[in-house]
Amino acid sequence: MNLAELQKIAAAGEKIAMLTCYDSTFAKLMELAGVDILLVGDSLGMVLQGAENTLNVSMHHMTYHTKMVKNGAPNTVIMADMPIGSYEQDNEAAYKNALWLIKSGAHIVKFEGGDKRVETARYLVERGIPVCAHLGFTPQSVNQLGGYKIQGKTEESAEHILKDAKAMSEAGASFVLLEMVPAALAKKITESINVPTIGIGAGIDCSGQVLVVQDLLGIYTGSANKKPEEFKSPRFVRNFLKDTNSVQQAVENYVQAVKNKTFPAAEHSY
Ligand code: KIV
Repeated sequence: MNLAELQKIAAAGEKIAMLTCYDSTFAKLMELAGVDILLVGDSLGMVLQGAENTLNVSMHHMTYHTKMVKNGAPNTVIMADMPIGSYEQDNEAAYKNALWLIKSGAHIVKFEGGDKRVETARYLVERGIPVCAHLGFTPQSVNQLGGYKIQGKTEESAEHILKDAKAMSEAGASFVLLEMVPAALAKKITESINVPTIGIGAGIDCSGQVLVVQDLLGIYTGSANKKPEEFKSPRFVRNFLKDTNSVQQAVENYVQAVKNKTFPAAEHSY
């Protein structure tokens, strides 16, 4: 599968199964399980480094983990996150950093933000770098957004996210990722733009789904300095390891659940 084929299967109604991945062991396991896209997410700041957020992740971290994932999954589409500070200042710096991720093994880069980032998306796409736009809850803006909160709940903010998704798709983005938005809004966006949407906490009607692999396995219990009992898993998470004693099987079950549209259920949506 390449990006164009993934867009084609999404247009034909097949769901895209995406998971975060940060190393070669999991990459190989996920490739064998049929995961469509491996996301080297800057969530690695939380789930690998133990931080409270993604704000200390660097380009060096991202390229290091992208190379590992590429080693383990040479035949799967790899999406890599552009970390905070690597794309906002100017388009040339964004291009240089995106190219570094591509040379490390990524097929496509993802960055956060809508209207202010449309020209960056266009700039990268015009220079041959595929882009995924991350909208809705954008973790790099956690301090501005006042915490991990659902976005697009008011009519005005829903309209804003829809407008951003349209602008990003028109600028040439290959995918739009929607995090923590009402399912009805994600459905409307998916029906309104020409590229697939990937949801996390965005309901069943997105063209595909993504989860953080540690959440899928039920092994993430919050940042390193917090007690596990203080951690509450987000609503959109389902533990796929619960019903099997095999990590491989849990990942395969996730892929199946996404493909046959049994995940996410209403209980995982807003
Ligand atoms: O970094 C990440 O893992 C992400 C997902 C939450 C989509 O961006």
